[in-house]
Amino acid sequence: MPGAELAGKHLVLGMTGGIACYKIAELTRLLTKAGATVQVVMTDAATQFITPVTMQALSGRPVYTSQWDARIANNMPHIDLSREADAIVIAPASTDFLAKLAHGMADDLLTTLCIARDCPLLAVPAMNRQMWQNPATQRNVAQLRADGIELLGPDSGPQACGEVGDGRMIEPEAAYEAIVSFFTAKTLAKRRVLITAGPTFEALDPVRGITNRSSGKMGFALARAAQQAGAEVHLVAGPVGLDTPWGVYREDVQSAQQMYDAVMHELAIGAYDVFIGVAAVADWRVDHVSEHKIKKTAERQVPNFTFVENPDILAAVAKLPNAPYCVGFAAESGDLDVHGEEKRKRKNVPLLIGNLGPLTFGLDDNEVVLFEEAGATKLPRAGKHTLARTLVAEIAKRLPGRNPPA
Ligand code: CTP
Repeated sequence: MPGAELAGKHLVLGMTGGIACYKIAELTRLLTKAGATVQVVMTDAATQFITPVTMQALSGRPVYTSQWDARIANNMPHIDLSREADAIVIAPASTDFLAKLAHGMADDLLTTLCIARDCPLLAVPAMNRQMWQNPATQRNVAQLRADGIELLGPDSGPQACGEVGDGRMIEPEAAYEAIVSFFTAKTLAKRRVLITAGPTFEALDPVRGITNRSSGKMGFALARAAQQAGAEVHLVAGPVGLDTPWGVYREDVQSAQQMYDAVMHELAIGAYDVFIGVAAVADWRVDHVSEHKIKKTAERQVPNFTFVENPDILAAVAKLPNAPYCVGFAAESGDLDVHGEEKRKRKNVPLLIGNLGPLTFGLDDNEVVLFEEAGATKLPRAGKHTLARTLVAEIAKRLPGRNPPA
């Protein structure tokens, strides 16, 4: 879980009737764990699928279901509950509720709360595919979008009714990511960002190879942060056991040569604004990969390998005629100040992010120094997701013709 990234945010989580209500238990847990306060409001129909007691236990706050609730002193829950909200999230949003929202109806607590709001409204639709495709629903959805309501999903796939198609609710993790993204300043709007991450694997024979201890966490966190800042992100990943960040396009490779080819291909077919080389690329590979598994010999002879140098991806990208803004990473085991600036100049990149590397491989936090022409700046130690957001903001500031934050 990427830290308290929703600290200070107050959400009204409106639940309407549908089997996807069970997914909202997990969404509530993710939101509260990230520091948000979550005020659950349920329609009568929602209470048929999951109890207010469960939602109260998970949100840590009393749940409201009726506009006649006597717990609100002035008896105006439709006003009071939304006034301190940063956003109302309707999840799951049923066919009926979307229709009511589109027509401005106010016949229960949740609909009244929505129409009386002065904060953004996000809706996470969940319904059968025929209900979603119905022209009436599509008309309502178009109206809601025109009214500035953001729809998160729906997803496509198998449905509770046994049918397959569009309409199922996006997974709670995806809804969580979309909510975080909603609150993130769009400092990289309309930008295209290409990132390498993870280690590479250089084969010796069909079963063995040489790799390194890079976990890929920093590169994946940067891809996530760049996507949330509004960028279109293409992530070229070496062999890692990490989930693809929501909304990021991921391409898996094994060797340094494959990573180089994937990066060069991407840059040949489309323009990128930023290239961030986070991958721990192997410097060498064996000049000949054995076709068969290398066996022990009767004489117990140890194998000898001859190595050749791999292409330097970052340096090659920086040399391209229309090079994107290039950012390098360097993990050093000592003398960071000397090696960091020397490496930045050698690779001819405007920005190099250095850290005392092997110590942080696989860990969830990191301490880095920014090396650039103007000098070196140390950033405070932080979790990789917090650091990724800071680095994305720093990179956005340095882009030529940068977008103002949304
Ligand atoms: N890099 C790359 N291709 C390579 C080697 C490195 O793109 N073949 C990139 C890394 O992704 C990183 C930066 O260059 O952004 C620095 O990586 P590092 O391994 O520290 O650089 P090296 O040139 O290999 O230096 P060293 O001799 O310290 O290993």
